[in-house]
Amino acid sequence: KTPIIIDTDPGVDDIVALLFALASPEIEIIAIIVSYGNTDLESCYRNIFKAYQAVSREVETHPQAAERFPNMFSDVKTILARGSDGPLEGDLHGAQYFHGRDGLSGIHERHPELDVSDMSHPQITVSEEHGVDLALRLVEASKDRSITYVVLGPLTNLARMMHKNRDLVTSKLGRVVSMGGALDVPGNTNPVAEFNYFADPYAVKELLCPHDPSTGFPLDRFFMVPLDITTPHELPFPAYKAQVDNAFESAAKPSVASDKSPLRHFTSSFLERTRMVMLEFGKDAMELHDIVAVWFALANTGPLSPGWGVSKRVFDIERTGELTRGMLVVDRRSDESAYALGANRAEVQAQLEKATTEHHPHEDFAV
Ligand code: BDR
Ligand code: CA
Repeated sequence: KTPIIIDTDPGVDDIVALLFALASPEIEIIAIIVSYGNTDLESCYRNIFKAYQAVSREVETHPQAAERFPNMFSDVKTILARGSDGPLEGDLHGAQYFHGRDGLSGIHERHPELDVSDMSHPQITVSEEHGVDLALRLVEASKDRSITYVVLGPLTNLARMMHKNRDLVTSKLGRVVSMGGALDVPGNTNPVAEFNYFADPYAVKELLCPHDPSTGFPLDRFFMVPLDITTPHELPFPAYKAQVDNAFESAAKPSVASDKSPLRHFTSSFLERTRMVMLEFGKDAMELHDIVAVWFALANTGPLSPGWGVSKRVFDIERTGELTRGMLVVDRRSDESAYALGANRAEVQAQLEKATTEHHPHEDFAV
């Protein structure tokens, strides 16, 4: 099993991604670091318990459901900690218009029974440590490059880990899988930017495109899962509803009506509003952004599996643009030639420097 740390800002699709991770035997969720993002840090933190408690209620009602959530019954408990409550620099922006003020479509207002009264769960060890410190400690204690770090929100925590102990992070952390960015497609937050990279473009800059490339995160271990890939993976709501109905009906005892499924009650309570929001955008489907990132992480714990293509892209990020904050400015002068150009530039620069220090053009003229 691959140990993973999930860094998340739940968020509707983050919670669906978390349920997917709890149902995935390929991975062990060793820690969850909560981030600000879709809404404030505290609401995001609370939503983790809502999800865990909903799965527990499901298993209490339908014990067969336990088989579907192996990571809820693993010997390895998940350590949960609060991470950053805002970006490295600049203003705090949320996505409450989509995810609701509480990050879960306001379910506590419409369904008070789904709010959590106690923030605890038998599968979770609550840590009072800052998420950044916890993650660093776990990476330090791990076997070299064994942990996959999956980021479903802004990249702030990872950037802060690098501030605190760059050598440790770059030498011992395994892969980073980050849902974020829009390369060749429009943005979802402004016309050109994806939300997670829009939320903290400074963190993206430091990790992926710093002025001095030797200060960033090693790019051969960084897998970006941008909107280009996630948006086309959408689940039509009518088909989703039918599938969920079937799954719960077959899991439930024949005598138990499917509407007595606590987990279905939980998911449909927040997806109902998501469906309404998506219909406003003209789609009766849910975009599976964060889920695709978890899927990538668990499907590629070793060498990349067939069917998953990876390509190198050259870009920088706009941090303060009046209209373009969070935009990935892709160097489309062909990736290979852009790399070559970069190399040539460095060579030309070195020659120029050599020429100006070793050569004396005035003397030449004098001759
Ligand atoms: C990303 O932004 C958030 O709103 C979603 O949870 C996802 O992580 C998609 O742009
Ligand atoms: Ca997210």
